[in-house]
Amino acid sequence: MNDSQVRRPWVVGVSGASGTPYAASVIRALLAAGEAVDLVVSRAARLTILDETGIAYRDAHWREDLARWIGTDDLDGVRHWSAGDFAAGPSSGSYPAKGMLVVPATTGAVAGIALGLSKDLLQRAAAVTLKERRPLVVCLRETPLNGVTLKHLVELDAQGAVVLPASPGFYAGGSTARELVDFVAGRVLDAVGVPHALYRRWDGELGAAAKAE
Ligand SMILES: Cc1cc2nc3c(=O)[nH]c(=O)nc-3n(C[C@H](O)[C@H](O)[C@H](O)COP(=O)(O)O)c2cc1C
Repeated sequence: MNDSQVRRPWVVGVSGASGTPYAASVIRALLAAGEAVDLVVSRAARLTILDETGIAYRDAHWREDLARWIGTDDLDGVRHWSAGDFAAGPSSGSYPAKGMLVVPATTGAVAGIALGLSKDLLQRAAAVTLKERRPLVVCLRETPLNGVTLKHLVELDAQGAVVLPASPGFYAGGSTARELVDFVAGRVLDAVGVPHALYRRWDGELGAAAKAE
């Protein structure tokens, strides 16, 4: 197999912040776009997934758990890695990942990545992404923010990561929770140039009521 035939996945790191629907939307949209996904779910994220979906996400049964979580059985493009597995593919710069999306990102993950702690596979894979100068998107979910997190976010920006807060815009016409989630997921994919139809793009035209003003 030559290099052009090699599977080149996006690493999706799910950390233990509220907002597991953001991760589900990003994974679904990557697969719909024909992209391969390498999934790393932190230990803490198992608790948020359980809390927000009722699904106990297990390494040994990840296919069935992920299918229930994101609502599709078509998982051929997905590879799952255990968060404690430092021998996993995304742990090495020679693994041919396209880049990494941390969705949602905790303040802890932001700190660990900014400081290069590599305390688990998610943080190690992010460190590798930065050192290989590949795209890294960090979709933070926390509010309000304390000073130390703000410093870590500035550091991530300086290192070339895209800091993309889970902050839905309402101009795309979305009113349901699903539409607002998909807006954020769509902006994550925009940051790495993956096509999607997750939200209606701004076309320079105000809505009728605003135009009439
Ligand atoms: C239900 C629940 C929701 C949480 N939501 C957030 C959150 O929105 N943002 C955040 O930074 N931490 C949140 N936490 C705390 C993190 O899970 C915790 O700091 C954890 O150590 C992060 O580990 P990780 O970065 O390895 O996933 C939440 C915890 C629980 C149990």
